Amino acid sequence: MTGATSGLGRNLARALAGRGWTVLVHGRDESRCAAVVEELRAAGGTAYPYLADLSSLREIAGLGARVTAEHPSPGLLVNNAGVGAGRDARRREVSRDGYELRFAVNYLAPVVLTHALRAPLRAAGSAQVLNIGSIGQSPVDPDDIQFTRHYDGTEAYTRSKFALAAFTFTIAEEYAADGIRVNCVHPANYMDTAMVTEAGVRPWSSVEDGTKAVLHAIDEGARGASGHYYNESRRAEAHRLAYAAGTQRRLTSLTDQLIAPARDAGASGS
Ligand SMILES: NC(=O)c1ccc[n+]([C@@H]2O[C@H](COP(=O)([O-])OP(=O)(O)OC[C@H]3O[C@@H](n4cnc5c(N)ncnc54)[C@H](OP(=O)(O)O)[C@@H]3O)[C@@H](O)[C@H]2O)c1
Repeated sequence: MTGATSGLGRNLARALAGRGWTVLVHGRDESRCAAVVEELRAAGGTAYPYLADLSSLREIAGLGARVTAEHPSPGLLVNNAGVGAGRDARRREVSRDGYELRFAVNYLAPVVLTHALRAPLRAAGSAQVLNIGSIGQSPVDPDDIQFTRHYDGTEAYTRSKFALAAFTFTIAEEYAADGIRVNCVHPANYMDTAMVTEAGVRPWSSVEDGTKAVLHAIDEGARGASGHYYNESRRAEAHRLAYAAGTQRRLTSLTDQLIAPARDAGASGS
């Protein structure tokens, strides 16, 4: 699970370990990642640390390769890590590859990691990919995919979550052939996490609320649900354009160009 060192991810890691899952704890900070692993082990769980900065396509490819080598048939990938609107929503930040940061971490990273782990997930038999999306979704601008004009961090966040929902629906059918279910969930409104407090918003809900919704989506996936979007624990409709074939094709084509360096890094084994 990505982003397991804080907020929803950390609480979900505890819940999954409690349910008997072996948890691959992804983080970007070595000591915080080790602390979560220690906590899960101390509570009787099985956990291993995985480090990667998800704003680097090369590091994501490396993460995929390492997981594949060490855990050849994982049953579940939770793409949870994310960047919120930020302290100053007017400040456009970029990833280590020079891409708009929210689009890179919240969307490109799940795309690259999911594709990198497709073969091991297939090997698991009936595995799942769960994308942690958001109810906040707005269509990407295909003519300005890097959001260089009239930047706004909140809009950048909602565009990235729209793209993640569209990606979920795009691959669900394709991955079904491999027995892999792919869903997307909005966990809860304004949970008490770093990204919410950093944006100056007073939390409305807790990570326990979000964890409940994520576990519900995982249970639904285990029962065979795929290509679904959940608003908390209810099946819901994502933004209507996220289902549109034309939008999905355009987004996939732009994405393929952007993630080409990661494919090359994966192919060279670096
Ligand atoms: N909070 C809400 O109300 C809410 C609502 C809807 C959806 N969500 C979604 O829920 C997910 C979890 O967010 P949260 O609320 O738990 O916020 P959070 O506490 O800020 O957690 C975000 C996680 O993403 C990780 N992360 C960010 N940038 C990264 C990078 N470049 N490389 C690797 N990891 C990175 C963070 O790592 P560090 O621990 O190192 O900071 C952290 O573990 C996100 O996808 C978010 O969009 C949240």
